[in-house]
Amino acid sequence: MTQRKTVDDLFVHMLSDIYSAEKQLTKALAKLSRAASDPQLSEAFKVHLEETQGQVERIDKVVESCGVKLKRMKCVAMEGLIEEGQELIDEIERGPVLDAGLVAAAQKVEHYEIASYGSLCAIGKQLGFTEAVNLLKETLEEEKATDLKLTEFAERAGNEKAKQQK
Ligand SMILES: [Fe+2]
Ligand SMILES: [Fe+2]
Repeated sequence: MTQRKTVDDLFVHMLSDIYSAEKQLTKALAKLSRAASDPQLSEAFKVHLEETQGQVERIDKVVESCGVKLKRMKCVAMEGLIEEGQELIDEIERGPVLDAGLVAAAQKVEHYEIASYGSLCAIGKQLGFTEAVNLLKETLEEEKATDLKLTEFAERAGNEKAKQQK
């Protein structure tokens, strides 16, 4: 409990958490891409996988610019979100229903990331880490764009269903 005494400690803790989350995601996005049957959705996961690898490298730059050291820890929230995605893959046969589930699971992930990077930007600003905040904002924008793209997939799936029912 006494480990996170200052705002700096909190910043390092949150940065270490999202670092672990991004690393876990590189593996998970590859799985989502393989599980998706819509080729465009599969490709979207692949694109975000590449972006995610860049985001891991960007955290290394943030660490360098702030002169801090990351803690070795596991983001248990991301572990849980990924596990839920895996459950869908195990329980639903390949096809549009699984695709819709994968989109929903991925959006939960993006929202976790958006919250994390948003908070990191706010706390980093408070600490005067200008360069770090700019880097973190770049990632935040990528996560938001991914979330929007996923919303389009979710809505498209809904529209196709409505068309079929007519
Ligand atoms: Fe990310
Ligand atoms: Fe993301």
